[in-house]
Amino acid sequence: MKNIMTDTNEKRLAAIKSLEYIEDDFVLGVGTGSTVNFLISELHLVRHKIRSIASSSEASTRLLSDEGFLVEDLSSTGSPDLYIDGADEITKNFHMIKGGGGALTREKIIAHASKKFVCIVDNSKIVDVLGNFPLPIEVIPMAKSMVSREIAKLGGQSELRHDFQTDNGNLILDVHNLKIIDPPSLEKEINNIPGVVTNGIFALRPANVIIIGNAETTDVITNT
Ligand code: 5RP
Repeated sequence: MKNIMTDTNEKRLAAIKSLEYIEDDFVLGVGTGSTVNFLISELHLVRHKIRSIASSSEASTRLLSDEGFLVEDLSSTGSPDLYIDGADEITKNFHMIKGGGGALTREKIIAHASKKFVCIVDNSKIVDVLGNFPLPIEVIPMAKSMVSREIAKLGGQSELRHDFQTDNGNLILDVHNLKIIDPPSLEKEINNIPGVVTNGIFALRPANVIIIGNAETTDVITNT
């Protein structure tokens, strides 16, 4: 069992390293979660390089505003030069599970729009096969039971995330026991179920760079 303080430092180191990817006059996309929160708190160091910011959640928008950044709508910023976000699991093929914080839909929209995606994680997030972390799926409320039944046909057990509503007013099903052998195919298949807004497999738009935080160093893996 890992120590939470070690995890925290690993996340912080990965977040700080990602600042090196922000260049002059950049439009920046900002993700959501505890790793990204470290990024937001250090972002003032590169304030002069940032032209505009698009945010993936109300939570990140609040933190960015507290740091004095003006957050704009993605439709106004245009394509971000860079998107920085965490992940719940990531493989060395740059495929991820995201959505532990429930922000997966806006995250996927900004990731898709961005020229480069840098994923910042502590080293516990690196896996060989996705699926140990329950797969989040954002669903339209009236479809939750029907989507659960469709997911059961794929071998997964859906659990409704309690007392949780997404920034888009929807629900999250956390799906256990899915074998995610072919992430791009399963991403498409689940997204084709009516009522699914999106699912937390990020494979059709993988990360370009993984920054892995260790106890005192970082490792960087780049998708060539
Ligand atoms: C939020 C996400 C996060 O990136 C993911 O849950 C990782 O979070 P953390 O940085 O707190 O470990 O996808 O929807």
